[in-house]
Amino acid sequence: MLKNVNQNHIIASKEKKYVSNSQKIPYYPVAFQKGKGALLYDYENREYIDFLSSASSANIGHGNKEIAKVVKEQMENLAQYTLAYFYAREPVELARKLISVAPGDDNKKVMFSTTGSASIDGAIKLARAYTGRSKIISFCESYHGSTYGALSISAINTNMRKNIGPLLPEVYHFNYPNCIRCRYGKKEKSCKKECLKDIEYAFNYYLPAEEVAAVFIEPIAGDAGLIVPPKRYMKALHELCKKNGILFISDEIQQGVGRTGKWFGIEHFDIEPDLIVLGKSIGGGLPLGIVIGKSDIMDSLDAPGHLFSMTGNSTVCAAALKMIEIFEREDLNTRAYEMGEYIKNRFLELKEKYEIIGDVRGVGMSIAVDLVKNRNTMEKNYEAAAKICYRCIERGLILIFIGQSVLRVQPPIVITKEQVDKALDIVEKSINEYLNGQIGEEVFKITKGW
Ligand SMILES: Cc1ncc(COP(=O)(O)O)c(C=O)c1O
Repeated sequence: MLKNVNQNHIIASKEKKYVSNSQKIPYYPVAFQKGKGALLYDYENREYIDFLSSASSANIGHGNKEIAKVVKEQMENLAQYTLAYFYAREPVELARKLISVAPGDDNKKVMFSTTGSASIDGAIKLARAYTGRSKIISFCESYHGSTYGALSISAINTNMRKNIGPLLPEVYHFNYPNCIRCRYGKKEKSCKKECLKDIEYAFNYYLPAEEVAAVFIEPIAGDAGLIVPPKRYMKALHELCKKNGILFISDEIQQGVGRTGKWFGIEHFDIEPDLIVLGKSIGGGLPLGIVIGKSDIMDSLDAPGHLFSMTGNSTVCAAALKMIEIFEREDLNTRAYEMGEYIKNRFLELKEKYEIIGDVRGVGMSIAVDLVKNRNTMEKNYEAAAKICYRCIERGLILIFIGQSVLRVQPPIVITKEQVDKALDIVEKSINEYLNGQIGEEVFKITKGW
């Protein structure tokens, strides 16, 4: 393991020397120099199948020539000119297009940022400005990003909150509807939506509903381990928001742009949110954050309420427009759904064979393979997850784990069936090697993981 130091290791050790530790959750020292579709190549020209899509930010795959062409043309014409004071065609066209694919009518507007996190901050500002209320509800196990606002409403890992306080005040975290490991010890039949009742209880005793501006929720709790909430919970939460004049805000940064087989994850619940937040894949490979919402909410902040010199810039917007064109032309929503079902079924077959797979779940191409020590208790198996992912990467499959035990299966939507089959063979071999004690403890010198 890592016997021969190569270009990848040199890059990784240089990064350690020159780049802040705050930006790395290490899994394996590999650096990529190019990609094509769902394939990646490292600096030793080794090929990998990508099961991560750059953390769901490369949904349409890597090395897209059409996007490269429009980016080059735009850069040669005019890379960008700040939208803060003047105008450009590309951001306007992108806003129009995004409004046309968003759920509900077209009486909407768009707000640009450069990352998902900054767009979450924008949505917090909009919610407070529009409602005149200050309190925010979000969920334990959620990840909304790393700017002060976004991390204040996140609750995934205490490390990201240490030594930087005070955070944004007036944020209240409730239990995410996690039916895999129910905090109330309930099963589907005995569930009385206790997690929702906690919010109602709070409204009665310490959190005046009329002071709550917004609920922020991920339609699938991504970094917690791809937890899929029950539809009846989401519907009831939405109703509770409507009843109390609270904005319902869907964080689609990870689940949007076809990841679940629809443009937005929240569409699976037949809910029209007040605001949608996008990031990652929407930029076609370049950094872009978006808030889409009803016009009156979007106009509740005056300039310079959420203004950045480089946002909505023409090159990023040209890439995003081309990405959307390709996405629609190739019908990638249908593909995500169909290929997602195939992948899920293949993992369900592995679940029949291997006790350490406690659960396989997901929607479209957002699939979780939950590794456990015991299927009855669903005790998380961090060791198995770390070792299996490590061996998969060694064998040419980019696979990481989240939520301490969950294999995160989010390949580019363009992945082929042959690539999926090859990847599944790698996973199965690695599971067998783990079970036979053939993956050593040295993994933990490198792998940290979520
Ligand atoms: C659901 C969700 N929200 C927000 C973010 C933050 O987005 P970004 O890293 O682009 O700022 C992420 C990133 O992983 C995410 O998964």
